[in-house]
Amino acid sequence: MVNYQSFLGIETSLLKSSEIRDLLKLTEGKKVISLAGGLPDPSTFPSEDIRKITDDIIRDESAQALQYSTTSGVMSFKKELVNLSKMRGISSINEDNIFVTVGSQEALFMIFNIFIDKGDYIAVENPSYLAALNILRARQPNFIGIDVDPQKGTNLDQLEAKLKELKRENKKLKMFYVIPTAQNPAGTTMNFDDRKRLLDLASEYDFIIMEDDAYGFLVFEGDSPAPLRALDKEGRVIYTSTFSKILSPGLRLGWVVAENDVIKELEIYKQNVDLHTPTLPQYIAREAIKRGVIMNNLPKVKSTYIEKRDVMLSAIEENFPKEAKWSHPVGGMFVFSWLPEKINATKMLEKAMNRGVAYVPGASFYHDYSGKNTMRLNFSYPSKEELKKGVEILSKVIKEEFSNS
Ligand SMILES: Cc1ncc(COP(=O)(O)O)c(C=O)c1O
Repeated sequence: MVNYQSFLGIETSLLKSSEIRDLLKLTEGKKVISLAGGLPDPSTFPSEDIRKITDDIIRDESAQALQYSTTSGVMSFKKELVNLSKMRGISSINEDNIFVTVGSQEALFMIFNIFIDKGDYIAVENPSYLAALNILRARQPNFIGIDVDPQKGTNLDQLEAKLKELKRENKKLKMFYVIPTAQNPAGTTMNFDDRKRLLDLASEYDFIIMEDDAYGFLVFEGDSPAPLRALDKEGRVIYTSTFSKILSPGLRLGWVVAENDVIKELEIYKQNVDLHTPTLPQYIAREAIKRGVIMNNLPKVKSTYIEKRDVMLSAIEENFPKEAKWSHPVGGMFVFSWLPEKINATKMLEKAMNRGVAYVPGASFYHDYSGKNTMRLNFSYPSKEELKKGVEILSKVIKEEFSNS
């Protein structure tokens, strides 16, 4: 047999498979409550609306909707994306500032590949979104980790200190990848003053910001603060968001809002990857925006998740050891927990799975695999009963591990 490992290109061999996917495989077919995934609750999908929209499109517009389309996205869809972006407070843009992608994952993949070279300095939150870190790891940059505190959020004092240090050494930060709203995994949301401060720092030290707003529409407690892109006067922010959390992840649709120069680079890159995002889902999502399906469905999505979050948080409060800390997310789909330092959540996983519960160990959300005592727990997909039971089992495992360590 051919040993394909020995034939792999260098960058490919640096790509790691997502730990979450590997984990989900291990739980398949077993009686394990999985708090490890990140799937939306399927009861939130507006299936009947999507059926009606699809019927209408196939009846009235099949010649275009089933055809190849342009690389940057279907024009009538981009028009609606301008409107949707406005609902997040992003104005003063037109269709030329929009780029449609296969989920926001593709947007992140392309942007990091376009901008980040080996040895570049890139700041990421510690912890940050695992699948973004995996793309970046293959680019071999110099990572700068910016701590996220469960209460205070992303530590901009630390960022500023790092920027000063780099400047003293005649080095420069190129990009900060940041998830300011309902951060995955930490669940924190950057306040308005910090958003302004971050933009000021970007201006002073001349770096670009990759803003991931995956959960911007999914803030279920209090208001969702305006994204950085909405406050950005210099065009420094490249913004991405997704339909995965507000309509359906299976449609695989995301979008970018950026300056024309960035859009042009994306166009060249994507032509080489997949020519364009599938046309039919773009027509479906266009109608879902136009007919108000997304906005009308959001209250249901939010109420589903706030209830589930509360079930998870009460179970945690009741059962977790008092030495542990955890986030109180105002949006998104995850609670993140900082366990006592002695506990290694990666090592503990096997024991937890044998007892019937899975989670994602937090280390892989840290660019340097620190954060060994942390874990991410998903509340959007499991049923309320599973959430309660899962946390109860997990708490017992944690307490045993704590007293044995
Ligand atoms: C922070 C963040 N960014 C990006 C994504 C990618 O989502 P998608 O490719 O489905 O748009 C996710 C998915 O969970 C996410 O949590």
